[in-house]
Amino acid sequence: MDFQGRTAIVTGAARGIGFEIARRLAQGGATVVLVDVAEEALAEAAKGLGADPDRVLSFVVDVTDEEAVERLVDAVVEKTGRLDILVNNAGITRDDLLLRMTQEQWDAVMAVNLKGTFLMTKHACRPMLRQRSGRIVNLASVSGLVGNPGQANYSASKAGVVGFTKTVARELAGKKICCNAVAPGFIDTEMTRVLPEKAKQRALGAIPLGRMGTAEEIAAAVCFLASDDASYITGQVLAVDGGMAT
Ligand code: NAI
Repeated sequence: MDFQGRTAIVTGAARGIGFEIARRLAQGGATVVLVDVAEEALAEAAKGLGADPDRVLSFVVDVTDEEAVERLVDAVVEKTGRLDILVNNAGITRDDLLLRMTQEQWDAVMAVNLKGTFLMTKHACRPMLRQRSGRIVNLASVSGLVGNPGQANYSASKAGVVGFTKTVARELAGKKICCNAVAPGFIDTEMTRVLPEKAKQRALGAIPLGRMGTAEEIAAAVCFLASDDASYITGQVLAVDGGMAT
């Protein structure tokens, strides 16, 4: 896919799905801005991208911090002159059954997954509005579409991302900015590697294609939605889940 001349921000890009998205965008010629809270991993990721260093920027930013988000967007526009693509990928889990779930677990997940997506979108869309073009791709989840025991906080945050995506799509369509979401199923990353074996087996049993997905398979869908090939698609949620949510 051709992303020559485009600037793309990917949050949570230090590892996992975010890293693969950044790698694919960089392969397509984009200037990629990697954003994460994990400072060391971020530096490694920037090197590991295998892209021309002139086309890779990295910023340690917590997406829940509005001032930091605003400074980030200003810095990106100052350095690259534009902003074409935003991928809201940063996300966390704090799983527990409803009766045991604490307010801290609830608030932490809502802050990163939902508020972080809101803050990044609010500030990143300003240069897109000026350019009258832009692509926003949010990471939702199969959990936000059909629910998942032990993930009341996470499912609610990702269902929130779906509603947010559809509203932003309607608000910004007039300025030629498209906003879509990808809803991954059960993907092999650090996020799922820490799950107990029993939970993994239960999840595997619910996947019609019979295997976990890869970060590359999610990155392919995200980059499609960020590309010119998706110019007439907005407000959609693309499930990339081996059939889990069908
Ligand atoms: P991961 O845990 O491997 O990576 C998430 C990255 O986000 C980490 O590098 C982390 O440091 C960063 N991050 C966390 N809080 C942050 C904050 N406040 N500000 C900036 N960066 C922050 O996760 P993975 O598996 O790569 O997931 C990526 C996205 O895909 C997430 O939104 C996740 O909810 C979603 N997803 C993942 C699935 C899976 O099975 N792995 C399934 C469905 C959705």
